[in-house]
Parts: sequence; structure tokens; C-alpha cells
Amino acid sequence: MKILAISGSLRKDSYNTALLKAMKALAPEHIEITLFDELGQIPLFNPDIDPNIIALKNRLAEADGLFLSSPEYARGISGVLKNALNWLVSGEEFVDMPVAIFNISQRASHALDSLHVCLEIS
Ligand SMILES: Cc1cc2nc3c(=O)[nH]c(=O)nc-3n(C[C@H](O)[C@H](O)[C@H](O)COP(=O)(O)O)c2cc1C
Repeated sequence: MKILAISGSLRKDSYNTALLKAMKALAPEHIEITLFDELGQIPLFNPDIDPNIIALKNRLAEADGLFLSSPEYARGISGVLKNALNWLVSGEEFVDMPVAIFNISQRASHALDSLHVCLEIS
């Protein structure tokens, strides 16, 4: 099983990235977790641009599942992660894809709710 893991933080010492790295290190042999580390290079979302230029779409198409771990900034998910999701949500790659969402902070209260709404997880 191939899992694509995206941290919503660009910070070098990010706790959310550390969580995904730990999951990768601890995953059983049959689960391959790949961290996507080009979130900061994705262009700002613009519906006028063909979404097929976004390499992340291909990476998602090759995956069986998606892990998202986002910091909470100003009571929402990080802007870079929201930007990536704006590119992805209209694509076929996302249909019926199992997604697990994480946030490392005990005091954060909105990031996961925001991800739920964005991904329409009920
Ligand atoms: C500008 C700014 C805004 C933040 N806003 C929130 C917030 O609304 N709620 C919260 O729980 N934490 C907030 N934080 C704390 C971050 O979520 C926290 O530092 C987190 O560890 C960042 O994720 P990372 O370690 O993966 O980079 C904020 C931090 C910064 C710098």
C-alpha cells in the first residue's frame, strides 16, 4: 500500500513533518509512506491554469491513500496546504481516496475541523 504524506508546514523543524517522518519510519513493511516535500513550490491556485501542470496530482494518482498533517495558523489550516487542496479537490485522483488527517498541537481547535469541511469527511 502506498501512502502519500503531506505536511502543511514548510518549517525546517516542523512538528507536523516530524510526525509524518515518524510514521514513515514505524510503518510496517507492506505500507510505503512517501513524504511530499515540494508543497512550497506549488503555484498559487488559479482556475485559469490547467491543473495538469501540478506534479502533486500525479503523485496522488499513484497513491492508495493520503496522510495530511497541518499546523493551525490563525485558526485555520496553513495557506500552503489549502493552496494545494484547491488544486486537488476537483481532480479525479481524489475520488474515493482514503484520507487520514492529523494535527500535532493540543491547543489547536480549528485546523482539523477546517480539514474535515474542506475534504467533506463526515
Ligand atoms: C502566525 C502564527 C499563527 C498561529 N496560529 C495558531 C492558531 O490559531 N491556533 C493554534 O493552535 N496554534 C497557532 N499557531 C501555533 C502553530 O500551530 C504551532 O507553532 C505549530 O507547531 C506549527 O506547526 P509546525 O511545528 O508543524 O511548523 C500559530 C503560529 C504562528 C507562527
